[in-house]
Amino acid sequence: MAELLAQLTDVSVHFPVRAGLLLPREVARVRAVERVSLDIHKGEALGLVGESGSGKSTTGRALLRLQDVTTGRVQFAGQDITHWQRRELQAIRRRMTVVFQDPEASCNPRMRIGDAVAEPLRVHERLTKAELQRRVGALLDQVGLDTSFALRWPHELSGGQRQRVGIARALATDPELIVLDEPISALDVSIQAQVLNLLDDLRKQRGLSYLFIAHDLGAVAHLCDRVAVMYLGRVVEQGEVGDVIDAPLHPYTQALLRSVPLHDPIAARARGLQVLDGEIPSPLAPPSGCAFHPRCRSAIAECRQLPPELAALPTRQVACPIAIRTAQLPIAS
Ligand SMILES: Nc1ncnc2c1ncn2[C@@H]1O[C@H](COP(=O)(O)OP(=O)(O)OP(=O)(O)O)[C@@H](O)[C@H]1O
Ligand SMILES: [Mg+2]
Repeated sequence: MAELLAQLTDVSVHFPVRAGLLLPREVARVRAVERVSLDIHKGEALGLVGESGSGKSTTGRALLRLQDVTTGRVQFAGQDITHWQRRELQAIRRRMTVVFQDPEASCNPRMRIGDAVAEPLRVHERLTKAELQRRVGALLDQVGLDTSFALRWPHELSGGQRQRVGIARALATDPELIVLDEPISALDVSIQAQVLNLLDDLRKQRGLSYLFIAHDLGAVAHLCDRVAVMYLGRVVEQGEVGDVIDAPLHPYTQALLRSVPLHDPIAARARGLQVLDGEIPSPLAPPSGCAFHPRCRSAIAECRQLPPELAALPTRQVACPIAIRTAQLPIAS
């Protein structure tokens, strides 16, 4: 297997909720991420899926050290960066970048496209004007944009083109790891496949590693090698993408998969499929035991007690004792 590049070990991120104007005190905690462990190897794309509020972006930010962790360890390129301060982080910032969902976010409306792409280069490298221009042209070319785009303004671009600019910016410092936080969710369906193909090509050409965050498993199936499924701050299932999609073990993954092609829950129920009922609970007051139990059709008494540990099966990790008992997995070779 390829070398390990980035790793989260037992990471939790809690946000304190404070009350009282004069003497603010902590009255509750948003448990956004709870004991999450993830590995990303060189050249690998790991998908991270789950409903809104399940803690995906916070996990991505923790991996990039854009967010402090409450407990646990963050490693990058063999170094423990959990407690690195701004100055130390500066040295590795260029090696790990992020692309956000909203293409607007990566385009300052008052900056021409060429300047937007040049910005990270200006921060990290000392280049002559001619060299800068050449590098910007090469980056635009890599993301499938003509060099004439350098002189355009963001409002003159389509959503898909703006997202390509976001990707060019992320590539500017020649990173090894890119966190892609729902990079295609805001795009028109017809454009989504093009941007996914671009990301796939770039990964192969440059040997990039991705943490690809998405709501559902559709895009993840296209781009990723492995996938981790999050529910209310915890990873509930993790494995090879093909295995997880062909034979999801956790009831939440099963429900998530069934909701992919069926946007009409009434029709889905009529066809006897289980769909996700109700809302994701609040991470301020997670349900006892397995956080998914109030929405799970298979739940039994023990599911209401202790949160299940993520147990390692030969080719999968899953946090559901019932799924483990009934798992019919092929024997690992
Ligand atoms: N800075 C913060 N302060 C307090 N709570 C926060 C903060 N950032 C995130 N949260 C909370 O943490 C939880 C997880 O948020 P996060 O943005 O990681 O979810 P997500 O899975 O990325 O959701 P989405 O799919 O909507 O982007 C949410 O309940 C959110 O409200
Ligand atoms: Mg998010």
